[in-house]
Amino acid sequence: MDSIHIQGGVALQGKVRIQGSKNAALPVLAATLLTGDGSLIRNCPRIADVYAMVSLLKELGCSVYWQEKGLFIDSSTVRREEICSDAVTGMRSSLCLLGALIGRCGEVVMEHPGGCVIGRRPIDLHLTALEQMGVEFREKGAKLLAKADRLCGAHIILPFPSVGATENVVLAAVLAEGDTVLEGAALEPEIAALCQYLQCCGAEIDGVGTGQLVIRSGRKLYGTEFAIPADRIVAGTYLFGCIGAGGSVFLEDAPWEDMGAVLELAEHMGGRLYTSQEGVYVQAPNRPLAVDCIRTAPHPGFPTDLQSVALSVAAVAEGQSMIRETIFENRFRVVEDLRRMGARIEEQGVDVVRVHGVSKLHSAEVEARELRGGAALVVAGLMAQGETVVTGCQYINRGYENICRDFRELGARVTSA
Ligand code: UD1
Repeated sequence: MDSIHIQGGVALQGKVRIQGSKNAALPVLAATLLTGDGSLIRNCPRIADVYAMVSLLKELGCSVYWQEKGLFIDSSTVRREEICSDAVTGMRSSLCLLGALIGRCGEVVMEHPGGCVIGRRPIDLHLTALEQMGVEFREKGAKLLAKADRLCGAHIILPFPSVGATENVVLAAVLAEGDTVLEGAALEPEIAALCQYLQCCGAEIDGVGTGQLVIRSGRKLYGTEFAIPADRIVAGTYLFGCIGAGGSVFLEDAPWEDMGAVLELAEHMGGRLYTSQEGVYVQAPNRPLAVDCIRTAPHPGFPTDLQSVALSVAAVAEGQSMIRETIFENRFRVVEDLRRMGARIEEQGVDVVRVHGVSKLHSAEVEARELRGGAALVVAGLMAQGETVVTGCQYINRGYENICRDFRELGARVTSA
């Protein structure tokens, strides 16, 4: 799929099932390395980032294959601790292999990890935390070398609740000597999913779901069967798609308990939402309402991953909205393309935009430059008059199993080429 063609102006109607979460699946896949055993991961999304993680695990010697029920990974045959593949530089989540491999092998050699081009994305918090556990780092050209003669539990305080750093500490700590206390841990639900997987494998972790995690040492880990939770970001994308394009949809399995700030914003924009065990029912307003200030923040705040999608909807809202991005400094890359579709967006410094809602966007040829920005352009296409073409779909495929199929199930006129 190279490009997505959207005939906009069609109100959405129908039901779609929400896929498994990318941000929960990737660290869980890395964690399977720690067990030296076989795990069956159910509801694992079939997305490019998961395929990339599968190749990395195979490169390390794991036996990995898809079964009818999910993805099976056997890490008993891990042979090496060096990852050479390009997949590392293309995917920031490969960074969680650092904690997992340090735990499993005591040593790692990897390329500097990449991910979407949405800011500087330093890794100092990861390195400082792991150093406190006895890991020594060296840089050799583009490669990062990590080694721990003795991996020890530690009392670690994160100065910022970094999702990736929290994951790395948890992954390294489960097989370390001595307990680890992690204060200032990220509260994102994907951290809880990782801890729950490890608990199913036999790890003892207290404080799951809070900012203080205690990881006890000395537990033997076994393989297990585990289901990845539904993706709150994909659910949010389709939710805002409906708020912007109009109509009413049912988002089956949407994890609404973890979507508080997202549901709140959708309601402020005029959506009516009904939650149940089965998911979220969304009824769109005639036209979305502007919101004074949308501010991204660590969970339970509004997720940075949905900022661009919210921006697309704000572009057609009645009134002026302000959006402040506090997590990544380069997440307004979608602005230029939205302007080409008729959006009126003023940049006020690097982290704030003011959006003057217009009554209609018009079609254009636009280019996805990163994952969530790409999804935001598809949402903009649903709301625009005429045919919008979104290129650069390899970014969207990193996190959405099939965004075209899903929006088609909701009645949108979307095709891929
Ligand atoms: C971030 C998001 C996460 C999202 C993911 C994918 C937050 C808090 N985290 O996770 O919800 O799913 O992107 O888009 O919203 N930082 C440092 N040094 C470090 C690590 C991070 O300065 O060592 C800074 C980053 O530059 C950024 C902030 O901390 O400003 C958030 O980082 P972090 O949570 O670690 O990012 P991800 O794990 O990529």
